[in-house]
Amino acid sequence: MVNRHLDPHLNPWRGHALRIEARPTVARHCHGASERLGKRAMSRHIFVLTGAGVSAESGLGTFRDKAGEGIWAKFDPMKLATPQAFARDPQTVLAFYDARRRNLLAARPNPAHVALARLERELAAKGDRLTLVTQNIDDLHERAGSKEVVHMHGELLKARCQSCEAAHAWLNDLTVGDACPRCDRVGALRPDIVWFGEFPHHLHEIDRALRDADLFVAIGTSGAVYPAAGFVAEARAFGVPTCEINLEAADNALLFDDALYGPATEIVPAWVEETLRT
Ligand code: OAD
Repeated sequence: MVNRHLDPHLNPWRGHALRIEARPTVARHCHGASERLGKRAMSRHIFVLTGAGVSAESGLGTFRDKAGEGIWAKFDPMKLATPQAFARDPQTVLAFYDARRRNLLAARPNPAHVALARLERELAAKGDRLTLVTQNIDDLHERAGSKEVVHMHGELLKARCQSCEAAHAWLNDLTVGDACPRCDRVGALRPDIVWFGEFPHHLHEIDRALRDADLFVAIGTSGAVYPAAGFVAEARAFGVPTCEINLEAADNALLFDDALYGPATEIVPAWVEETLRT
């Protein structure tokens, strides 16, 4: 595990794929032992944003990586993840998400998900608080035991009716012949996912939590998709210390005060352990 205090001149890894050995570290800004927290001397509020990297070691592919092997290097998101693509060719879009749903149902949470569930539980037991916002459409945080997960990009295991707007739990393949369980309309169901060109969910709630946080930590996200990629700048504007946990430097890495680099299954449990001790 590598700890990098933010300094553009001390960041030789930027833009390179890393192979990093796990080793103990204390990153000054990564555990909430900040001046801001000291001054408040009240309950601690940690804000965690997760992305596809947290689920990568559960076997769910990421969208982008420096090796060019992410999902969006193999498939064109404009043909699969926009409302226009769905209107033009619903069958192709549904088949893409059917495959991802089947993949998700076969996957299991990994130690990074489990550690974040522990963080939520143990902070709550001390009267502190975790806000967990995920860009992921999988349910691995919940299956690992997290109780409050803010899904800003929607959920793969739900279908939403474009006619009556009701969302339904959906574990099977979704076809154009399916009827909405509430309004009976046939052909109006779509995956309950935020596509490119649509507004993410819960932005007001996220903004409120960012303002109130004592620490902002982004885990396994490339910093390429807004508005999530802009949360670090927002946190900084509110005076919140920021930390990146990732396999390699994200596109917005220079905005973070500190970083811990390595696989999420190693770094996140170690970070949680250290954070709960702080
Ligand atoms: P990306 O695929 O863009 O980025 C994944 C990040 O995880 C990269 O920075 C990788 O270096 C890192 N990573 C990969 N394996 C890792 C591991 N084992 N441990 C730690 N980090 C690892 O995923 P997101 O940033 O989540 O939107 O993508 C944002 C959005 O773009 C997604 O929510 C999705 C996509 O289009 C929608 O589906 C609406």
